[in-house]
Amino acid sequence: FLSQIGPDAHMRVILRKSPGQRTVDDLEIVYEELLHIKALSHLSTTVKRELAGVLIFESHAKAGTVLFNQGEEGTSWYIILKGSVNVVIYGKGVVCTLHEGDDFGKLALVNDAPRAASIVLREDNCHFLRVDKEDFNRILRDVEANTVRLKEHQQDVLVLEKSPSSGRTSNHSGASTHYKYTVMSGTPEKILEHFLETMRLDSHFPDADPALDDFVLMHCVFLPNGQLCPMLMHCTYHAQGSQGSEQEKLDYALSNKRRVIRLVLHWASLYGDHLQEEEASLAFLEEFYVTVSDDSRLISALKEDLPELEKIVKHNSDDAKSSQKKHKVLLRQFSMGDERLQKRQPIRSNDEILFKVYCSDHTYTTIRVPVAAPVREVIAAAADKLGSAEDLLLVSLSSAGGEKDKVVLKPNDVSVFSTLGINGRLFVCPRNQLDSLTALPEQEGPTAASFGTFELMSSKDLAYQMTVYDWELFHCVHEHELVYHTFGRQTFRKTTANLDLFLRRFNEVQLWVITEVCLCNQLGKRVQLLKKFIKIAAHCKEYKNLNSFFAIIMGMSNPAVSRLSQTWEKLPSKFKKFYGEFESLMDPSRNHRAYRLTVAKLDPPIIPFMPLLIKDMTFTHEGNKTFIDNMVNFEKMRMIANTVRIVRYCRSQPFSPDPSLANKNHQDVRSYVRQLSVIDNQRTLSQLSHKLEPRRT
Ligand code: CMP
Repeated sequence: FLSQIGPDAHMRVILRKSPGQRTVDDLEIVYEELLHIKALSHLSTTVKRELAGVLIFESHAKAGTVLFNQGEEGTSWYIILKGSVNVVIYGKGVVCTLHEGDDFGKLALVNDAPRAASIVLREDNCHFLRVDKEDFNRILRDVEANTVRLKEHQQDVLVLEKSPSSGRTSNHSGASTHYKYTVMSGTPEKILEHFLETMRLDSHFPDADPALDDFVLMHCVFLPNGQLCPMLMHCTYHAQGSQGSEQEKLDYALSNKRRVIRLVLHWASLYGDHLQEEEASLAFLEEFYVTVSDDSRLISALKEDLPELEKIVKHNSDDAKSSQKKHKVLLRQFSMGDERLQKRQPIRSNDEILFKVYCSDHTYTTIRVPVAAPVREVIAAAADKLGSAEDLLLVSLSSAGGEKDKVVLKPNDVSVFSTLGINGRLFVCPRNQLDSLTALPEQEGPTAASFGTFELMSSKDLAYQMTVYDWELFHCVHEHELVYHTFGRQTFRKTTANLDLFLRRFNEVQLWVITEVCLCNQLGKRVQLLKKFIKIAAHCKEYKNLNSFFAIIMGMSNPAVSRLSQTWEKLPSKFKKFYGEFESLMDPSRNHRAYRLTVAKLDPPIIPFMPLLIKDMTFTHEGNKTFIDNMVNFEKMRMIANTVRIVRYCRSQPFSPDPSLANKNHQDVRSYVRQLSVIDNQRTLSQLSHKLEPRRT
């Protein structure tokens, strides 16, 4: 009998038996056969033996037969034994063809997601091996190949890699770790498609979809709004089911629309008021709303999503109209610490700023330009004011005034105002005057200490007011600014002014500590001063203001301060001990482990040590390509998004006023900490330090 029908047919006979009926010999025969199948070659002997017990033979006679449809729930995984199939995607048609030895259909199983494509027979008489979901999950789910590459038209479009998942999925109890395929890289369009497809509409936590959040946080890097918006519009209109019953098609179209709505809501809320900077994005939002509300007349289930969408559209368009009228001009937001400003508002890219630009003779002109204006525009505005027809350069000049401290800004630089050094100023001049530019006297900073003033203020009050101010600055930083800053803000033509000002404050506080110490002539006073700074730092730490805490400790560890051994010798040992502990938190070894362990124990609200987070993102950026083989390196996007989420976590609780200080009048402390006056020239500071305590010989 065997020899009559041949080995293939014998296999089929066995594989048609229900698994319970297969004999030991049967299993051995199937196992031998599995050794020759490409799709299984990476699997261990044990796994293949288990598979031999559960694989089912399936064949179809006619080309055009649909094995399953995109959007359906996945029930099995397939290997092609004979013949070929087309992979078909709505709106795209056939994206690729799979042949003998290829496998398909495991994405839906592993990720508990709907089918990403339909599978249609390309020829008559195709044979498959099938593993059903339960067996797949038991035997294969966690041992399946690490990488899946999806192709469209012979090009890789999505690379997925297995990684442990949190295991929140309901139907697989028992095993502790589960694996899921996460996006490693892909074309922007396919990544969007994939996230829309795998989005869970049933989940009730809006934040439960970190992949969606990664996408919305990072898309500006690889799919700016100008491209994203039209794609989303296209997705809602066109992704109609083409196979299946009428009801199935409607269901598919509905859930697809709801996913796009979910994405748009998340997108709009993440941008917040910054969406109003982009006319095209606002127009998209309005058009999208109109489309959905039209649709909801036909598909009543869409009505559920309408109110939230309406709220966000209304808020944005009303706000955009009123801000156009007001045409906000920021006068003083860049001069740190103006108390007249009631509540600090985030700076937006199209806010305008009034700014002084100096000439080589130290006269100045005041110009008015958008915050995110490129240098080219700033120069044009200045030339206009000065009535100059010459080619002018825009130069940022720091107080040191040496050659290195003059930077000729490039025409495409943006946001030059907020990135100036603490005492830096902008100058314009023709090229031939460049050498003769000198810093303004005011840039040198104070000549006398202000310790006399803040000595009388309590350290706790000072720390508190510093923290209130830091919170204002930190609060204004938009999550996207971190992304713009990391990838280079010129490419986005968006301001990072809020982040710049916050980072600048760190430097300012650090310089404040050094300046005060170096301007303090009496040894006894200097000891008092060190004690004061240690106390302020300790209070900052209590307020979980790690940014100012570190700024103070780093100021104290600056060579100009740390070399003053006579002063440090006189510091009481209690304070030395505190300082030692604080300093050890700054220890950079093992990737700043000491600091990271400390923050991990804190609950929000926290002001993190911002320069370290910036460094983390910059390292990730510089160490990883943004594009790999024309695909977006999404793993990099995820890593950066994770750091952005740390910032989000720190701010997830509002900073509430300290009740013990609420009734005090701190107007003087408040103004003092907002108007620190510092020397930002390290050489000057070092000279002052040597005058205080000359080097012992
Ligand atoms: P799954 O989503 O379970 O069902 C459809 C299958 O088609 C999918 O798993 C992949 O195995 C396979 N496939 C092959 N190429 C593509 C592609 N370009 N896009 C989506 N799915 C694809």
